[in-house]
Amino acid sequence: MRGPPAPVIDVDSLIVDFWDRRRWTNVVHGVSFHIFPGETLGMAGESGCGKSTTAYALLGYHRPMSRFNGGAVRFLGRDLLRLPARELQKIRGAEIGFVPQNPATALNPSMPVGHQVMESLEAHGACATRREAEDRCLGLFADMGLPRPKVVAGRYPHQLSGGQQQRVVLAMALACHPTLLVLDEPTTGLDVTTQARILSLLARLRARYGMAMFYVSHNLGVLAQVCNRITVMYAGELIEVASTAELFRNPGHPYTRGLIASLQQVSGFVGTQPLLRGLLRRDALPLGCRFAPRCEYSQPGCFTSPQSLATVGDGHEVACWRWPDIPAGTDPADKGTV
Ligand SMILES: Nc1ncnc2c1ncn2[C@@H]1O[C@H](COP(=O)(O)OP(=O)(O)OP(=O)(O)O)[C@@H](O)[C@H]1O
Ligand code: SF4
Ligand SMILES: [Mg+2]
Repeated sequence: MRGPPAPVIDVDSLIVDFWDRRRWTNVVHGVSFHIFPGETLGMAGESGCGKSTTAYALLGYHRPMSRFNGGAVRFLGRDLLRLPARELQKIRGAEIGFVPQNPATALNPSMPVGHQVMESLEAHGACATRREAEDRCLGLFADMGLPRPKVVAGRYPHQLSGGQQQRVVLAMALACHPTLLVLDEPTTGLDVTTQARILSLLARLRARYGMAMFYVSHNLGVLAQVCNRITVMYAGELIEVASTAELFRNPGHPYTRGLIASLQQVSGFVGTQPLLRGLLRRDALPLGCRFAPRCEYSQPGCFTSPQSLATVGDGHEVACWRWPDIPAGTDPADKGTV
């Protein structure tokens, strides 16, 4: 009998720190997850929780003034955190594609976008001739739903709309048929209609190209449209992992419930879960559960007992010791005794 396929990427106890004026400050704290071939894994969480830092780590990259301080990021078995820079360079852009939040940061303002895609193809040895690179570029632009690919190819980034720029960046990221595509809030800067178009394009691309995807967004509603499974991050730690259907049907962690309640409020639905109160404050995290200062259900023990993911169902993990005592719809005032 064959077991499950080997994951494309396997993140194991990842730790990332930033240099903050006089000392190292931890921002990603022991994060582990994996993504199987053809699967789309989402990561949700508030601003500043560490989503982009994790996304960059999937390319073996850490930002200036930061460091990997533990763990491994194994891409097809090779640990990207320990690969020489030259090896990493070959993998990035070819085997792992990246789509940032702001497409302008990924495009060279002084070069027509077609040239940029062709250069990327040539740099990774994906095309033998310029003619082949041009044909591939125009084919990719057509796949991305860009009208009149030849005209678009001759344009500079500032001559394109935000949605068109993001489609060009997607074409560039997919040019070498990557095994893994990392997307960091790729639709956040776009209007709702363009965002919906890009999301349905991504669903089609996944079916067509069959790559694994890691999709970061602060918006759970966006993740629900593209992801098979979702991880929820709070203050640098994963606090829940589940299939998309299970997460929405049966959210276990009070923070996830708050995120879903906020989403329902935006869409006009009046749910029974409490909304999130306060904001994430990294300078005031307790030794125990990091969510405790904001949690409607916290008890004194929560502030001193660190929480880690524990299995609560098939493929469903929650980092909250009280989850069985907080049934959906419970009045937060009724905290009960544990
Ligand atoms: N260069 C830096 N120096 C110091 N701290 C940083 C630096 N870059 C990020 N941080 C801190 O690391 C934490 C995580 O940042 P990150 O960008 O990963 O969050 P995020 O979840 O992607 O947020 P957003 O939704 O706003 O994009 C934040 O608290 C941020 O202040
Ligand atoms: S461990 Fe305690 S504080 Fe943390 S989420 Fe669960 S109930 Fe809330
Ligand atoms: Mg970010």
